[in-house]
Amino acid sequence: MAEAMKGLKRTHRCTEVSKANCGASVTVMGWVQKRRNLGSLIFVDLRDRSGLLQIIFDEKDIGAEGFAKAGTLRSEYVIAVVGRVELREGAVNENLETGEIEVRATQLRILSEAETPPFPIEENSQTKEELRLKYRFLDLRRPDLQRNLMLRSRVAAEVRNFLTKDGFLEIETPVLIKSTPEGARDYLVPSRVHPGHFYALPQSPQLFKQLLMCSGYDRYFQIAKCFRDEDLRADRQPEFTQIDMELSFVDVDDVIDVNERLLAHLFGKILGVEVPLPIPRMTWQEAMNRFGSDKPDLRFGMELHDVSQLVRDCGFGVFTNALAAGGSVRGINAKGQGGMPRKKIDALVEFAKGYGAKGLAYLAVNADGSYKSSFAKFMTGAELDALVQALDGEPGDLLLFAADKNKVVWDVLGALRVELAKNLGLLKKDDFRFLWVTEFPLLEWDEEEQRYVAMHHPFTMLMEEDFDKLDSDPGAVRAKAYDIVLNGTELGGGSVRIFQSDIQSKMFDMLGFTKEQAQEQFGFLLNAFKYGVPPHAGLAFGFDRLIMLMTGSESIREVIAFPKVKDASDLMTEAPGPVDEKQLRELALKCTAEEQ
Ligand code: AMO
Ligand code: AMP
Repeated sequence: MAEAMKGLKRTHRCTEVSKANCGASVTVMGWVQKRRNLGSLIFVDLRDRSGLLQIIFDEKDIGAEGFAKAGTLRSEYVIAVVGRVELREGAVNENLETGEIEVRATQLRILSEAETPPFPIEENSQTKEELRLKYRFLDLRRPDLQRNLMLRSRVAAEVRNFLTKDGFLEIETPVLIKSTPEGARDYLVPSRVHPGHFYALPQSPQLFKQLLMCSGYDRYFQIAKCFRDEDLRADRQPEFTQIDMELSFVDVDDVIDVNERLLAHLFGKILGVEVPLPIPRMTWQEAMNRFGSDKPDLRFGMELHDVSQLVRDCGFGVFTNALAAGGSVRGINAKGQGGMPRKKIDALVEFAKGYGAKGLAYLAVNADGSYKSSFAKFMTGAELDALVQALDGEPGDLLLFAADKNKVVWDVLGALRVELAKNLGLLKKDDFRFLWVTEFPLLEWDEEEQRYVAMHHPFTMLMEEDFDKLDSDPGAVRAKAYDIVLNGTELGGGSVRIFQSDIQSKMFDMLGFTKEQAQEQFGFLLNAFKYGVPPHAGLAFGFDRLIMLMTGSESIREVIAFPKVKDASDLMTEAPGPVDEKQLRELALKCTAEEQ
């Protein structure tokens, strides 16, 4: 049986041992990263979450038995070492925080042996992610993941510090709730006590935080787990974490103010990066027109240009037909890419088609000023010149045009712009460009359902200036909604809420809820509003996305301890899994999966 901790007490983590401890005895514990035998000496790199420390075993210090035991050590054994700190005899290791010292062992205890892990525990692992996620408990030993999770913990602590000082109260809201409509599908939990009834897991604490405002808590925050049954991507998980907040007696500027100070605090304190305040703001309309996206990446230019007016009467049917159908023609200038081989241009066309484009028209400006273009034969020289001028085209540039409905043109060129920047290496991870996007449309037309849906959620207030358009031109009504964007990622979003029952009822009308449906789903909120409600507003950050960007990670899976994969399963625990017939009976459920 292992000897466990009796009589031992850890004095330092590995990298807490320093030159200042030279001559003193320390007790360190951790995992064997590597063992090297050098004749009469054995070297072990000891690892804990702080980093590595070199241990030297010499029979003279530790005795024959201890030395023999050191010879049995293998990677990932868990050991305790008592020893004396010394300056290294051999070469100093510049790459190691503890590279100038080593610990000369006088006592060794093996706390736990280890089988050979299925992959090496090392930084920047080349092991396939599937295998790593199956053995996530081993993967989590890797220094890069440990750094990510340690940074995540520090950010959470700083969020609490900052918001608490700013007058916010941390309040928990329930996880077993009635379904809150936020666009995604709910995860449902069957009730045993109420057969045939279900709880939903919250997509966000939205309704509860609004109720807390009704109850007078004034400023609330929570680091809250949210659940959404939607298709996963690199920046989406079925369960994820928000830094969620709500404030009373405020308007847009107040929410923006506290949140940009919070961001500046976090980036300054944790990364030493100064976030210049105020963070720039851009309306949704401007963001779409200039960048084709409501989350523009401002680390590079390559802005969109609307050339509809220039091609209105040209002979190129692709352009004129799109305009006749109420669409637009827009282009971007891929500076210096005029020499791009045909094959690569074709790949861009395919990329554009992935975003709904029917094609992509291009024009390269040759070194001698002549053009090479997929549509030159349909246009006059003057028309081509005008296009080139509109996009500031110079010899060596590649101009790319999309013609379609506005939404398609924006999607295509917005995505193409980022794809080109990626290929050109313009996306520097340590360049942090924040942006507030404001004045989002209140409503979005849903082709499938043939009705308007809320762009943010049904509790979002419209801009007072647009009240009169609510009936005549609902699509043009702007919301008091805002997103915080960082380097092309939507980091967070929020809005000023409707707190007037009549406007809320009108909103439910617009969204196609009957009075009964509205009462049935949100009765508790509408009721609460009858008893004195302060004007309120709020916002939620995607905490995982924030940490992903702060750590320069490619995916939020790299900053979540136990993430799920694309099909929403957990490869380690193999959740979701089947349950006993007895459990189903208790819940009055019958499984039809096999029939299906
Ligand atoms: P929203 O739905 O915009 O707003 O969510 C806020 C932020 O949460 C993050 N996020 C996600 N992160 C990881 N995986 C997901 N599946 C996922 N979905 C969203 C994003 C997003 O910006 N209740 C409102 C906020 C409010 O109005 O106060 C809400 O949830 O970073
Ligand atoms: P076509 O006449 O269909 O061969 O198209 C001529 C050029 O226009 C090709 O380079 C197509 O990729 C491009 N093209 C086709 N549809 C569109 C569109 N909707 N927007 C921009 N370019 C297009």
